[in-house]
Amino acid sequence: MVLSGRTKTFLAEFRRNFHTTGALLPSGKSLAFEVTKHLAIPHRKPLKILEVGPGTGPVTRIIAKRMIKGDTLDAVEINPAFALAMSELVANEADFAAHRSRIRVIEADLVTLPGNEEYDAIICGLPFNNFDSELVGQMFNSLEGLLKPGGRLSYFEYWAIQTLKLPFVGSKTRQRLRGIGRLTGEIRKRMGGATRLILANFPPALVHHLLKPKS
Ligand SMILES: C[S@@+](CC[C@H](N)C(=O)[O-])C[C@H]1O[C@@H](n2cnc3c(N)ncnc32)[C@H](O)[C@@H]1O
Repeated sequence: MVLSGRTKTFLAEFRRNFHTTGALLPSGKSLAFEVTKHLAIPHRKPLKILEVGPGTGPVTRIIAKRMIKGDTLDAVEINPAFALAMSELVANEADFAAHRSRIRVIEADLVTLPGNEEYDAIICGLPFNNFDSELVGQMFNSLEGLLKPGGRLSYFEYWAIQTLKLPFVGSKTRQRLRGIGRLTGEIRKRMGGATRLILANFPPALVHHLLKPKS
């Protein structure tokens, strides 16, 4: 199998930074289309979009293809190797040309991002199940704080990671995963929205589309 440069970068970062990378391979097209589907609504208004954890950019590419005139995109990435790969991608590839001047790659940790109700849409690829539940809580606080009332938060998690992993891990990890499951379940219940299973991805993923209530 011939691997692209971007896939090699992703694999290298999976080995070097498994904790924050959280996946062996970049997302496939079906997952990227589903998690960005609200950007494809016909005749929509220009939006301020935030992508969290772009990695090597498979989702960013689809966001760029679905952007319209007046949209802006901030892509925030904690890993310097991915942030550099993303900056090069945006600067050089034709898929980004139409909206290049309105796309920023920001090398930062999500939880340090300033701003209050800045974004109309947030698309998030963070590997929540790798973190402790306190950090996951902080991350969702940041995501909700950055989202405007009436805005959408779309994120994915690998399907059945909670149930498949649970029998094979120690009690500490089991407790941690259950805590994250409870926390994210409560957030989904409170915000409301829809979930879709994408089997055509490695690994298969659940995409959650949440809506921040208008106050
Ligand atoms: C599962 S990968 C997803 C990458 C890409 N979106 C995709 O779908 O292939 C998770 C990404 O989130 C980034 N990340 C992890 N923690 C982060 C944080 N606190 N702030 C910003 N990015 C983070 C990782 O470096 C990695 O690029």
